[in-house]
Amino acid sequence: MRVLVAGGAGFMGSNFVRYLLGRYPDAEVLVYDKLTYAGRLDNLRDVYWDKRFRFVLGDIGDEERLMEVIKSFEPDVIVNFAGETHVDRSINEPAPFLETNVVGVFHLLEVARRLEVPRLVHISTDEVYGDRWNLPPASEDDCFRPSSPYSASKASGDLLCQAYWRTYRLPVIILRPSNNYGPYQYPEKLIPRTIIRALHDKPIPLYGGGWQKRDWLYVMDFAEALDTVMRRGSPGEAYNVPGFNEKTNLEVVRDILRLMGKPETLIKTVEDRPGHDRRYAMRGEKILSLGWRPKTPWHKGLRETIEWYLGNEWWWRPLLGDEFFAEDTPWETRRQNG
Ligand SMILES: NC(=O)c1ccc[n+]([C@@H]2O[C@H](COP(=O)([O-])OP(=O)(O)OC[C@H]3O[C@@H](n4cnc5c(N)ncnc54)[C@H](O)[C@@H]3O)[C@@H](O)[C@H]2O)c1
Repeated sequence: MRVLVAGGAGFMGSNFVRYLLGRYPDAEVLVYDKLTYAGRLDNLRDVYWDKRFRFVLGDIGDEERLMEVIKSFEPDVIVNFAGETHVDRSINEPAPFLETNVVGVFHLLEVARRLEVPRLVHISTDEVYGDRWNLPPASEDDCFRPSSPYSASKASGDLLCQAYWRTYRLPVIILRPSNNYGPYQYPEKLIPRTIIRALHDKPIPLYGGGWQKRDWLYVMDFAEALDTVMRRGSPGEAYNVPGFNEKTNLEVVRDILRLMGKPETLIKTVEDRPGHDRRYAMRGEKILSLGWRPKTPWHKGLRETIEWYLGNEWWWRPLLGDEFFAEDTPWETRRQNG
């Protein structure tokens, strides 16, 4: 099985590569990644010298380069993790989100169509369904109600994938995972940020008191879900991948502090993010019917994640910019600077 993993040097992609090479002796993996601030070869250090692994630096928006790489590698399947992913950044600077998550996806679809790639799996997100506060969990055919430039760009990428199936019969499958957590997640995201700040006894800022609900899924459980869909999913279909583990952000932070033996007095409420969705929630019958279930209990996954960050300071230390320990939210800083 030859798998081209676009965006495979990021958090979820690198964990998926590790899963594939660990599980399938006959797997051959090519990671195609632009190495933005979020993509790092350090995420792939334990597989980098494996004979079955290759890395190519490239942008999914660069059709010529993609074409060349796909022609020579001849993948059985392309999995697309490549994306701009941080909601806060999308509020401050939306352009890169449109360039990669919309235009980049378009170029990838075009190349896959022209080269008749046998299968493309595109990684979307639960955020395309928008805020589910007063609504039931979304099923795959619910309408999109994105709130942020990030989720709007992801929803647009999904629509292009659907159109390429309907119009050209490009065999594309869409996965919509809930919030993933685990090793190698960039320190700007809630769980690693909380672990690292707690380790330094720094205040843990929580938007609007932390009442927003998210559904958490261990990244290796997601890798299994993706594997299941690659093998048993139907082209043209979308599959939600819930974690069946809803928690408020406050509960998540409290659990981390308890497991690390740190006091809850570190928690600091800060002004809420503009357009902040209060809840994401999805139904999961469709993926469950393919035989997948998440296996990792929340406290086990969280404990392992904390242990990984505590044991791998070499990985995260160089990523902490001057602003990492700042007390202000990005909007407070921006307002103060005019
Ligand atoms: N992390 C989550 O909780 C979560 C939840 C739902 C969906 N998703 C989606 O899953 C995918 C992966 O998320 P992640 O958390 O691993 O992201 P990440 O930010 O850790 O990694 C993204 C990767 O994509 C690469 N990349 C960015 N632009 C590129 C381009 N134009 N061409 C090639 N490579 C490019 C980056 O270098 C990086 O390696 C994203 O599409 C995201 O929208 C993530």
